[in-house]
Amino acid sequence: MSGALSDPAAIRDRFAEAMSDRPEKLQKHVKRVERGALRLAAVHELDRDICAAAAAGHDLFRHCKDAELIALSRHYRVPITEDEEAAPIVLHGPLAAAYARETMSVDHDEILTSIAFHTTAHPEFSLEALAVFIADKIDPRKVQRDPGLAAVAAAADHDLYAAAAMFLERRLTSQLNSGQALHPLAVASRNAFLRRAQ
Ligand SMILES: [Fe+2]
Ligand SMILES: [Fe+2]
Repeated sequence: MSGALSDPAAIRDRFAEAMSDRPEKLQKHVKRVERGALRLAAVHELDRDICAAAAAGHDLFRHCKDAELIALSRHYRVPITEDEEAAPIVLHGPLAAAYARETMSVDHDEILTSIAFHTTAHPEFSLEALAVFIADKIDPRKVQRDPGLAAVAAAADHDLYAAAAMFLERRLTSQLNSGQALHPLAVASRNAFLRRAQ
């Protein structure tokens, strides 16, 4: 076992290798997210390697069913609160981050935080983490299915905070309207991004 992996470009390559046995549709989504995050990195002059690494690793466990997500999360000691029990899909981010740290020796807090919270976002997100969060939500296939996301994509070219707040407002509104629970981190993130939006 080699030592800690802290170089973002090396972390990106390690994640890409791990993704190569995941379902093909998921691999294609992850590649589109990486391209989208790199595009936003260019527009906003962000660290490209950090964006690419977080994008490459964000969905390592997206293909797992709820029961498997819960079992793996217990194994890697990912905290499971009532909010995750209500929506186990949220666990695929924290689980990917815990797995990367423990089994791949990934040692880069910003990349791991970006991966861990890519579903809900996090109030303390860096701009790189925000770029990956938004690139995931405006994957062109998702915009095709839900044309309302085009406004989020347009906003992202000008203000990442405004775009992320807009996305979270859409999702929180739809969850409220359909009687679903709101994840507290999504609410806190929306408030934080709204305050920082231009
Ligand atoms: Fe995801
Ligand atoms: Fe994703």
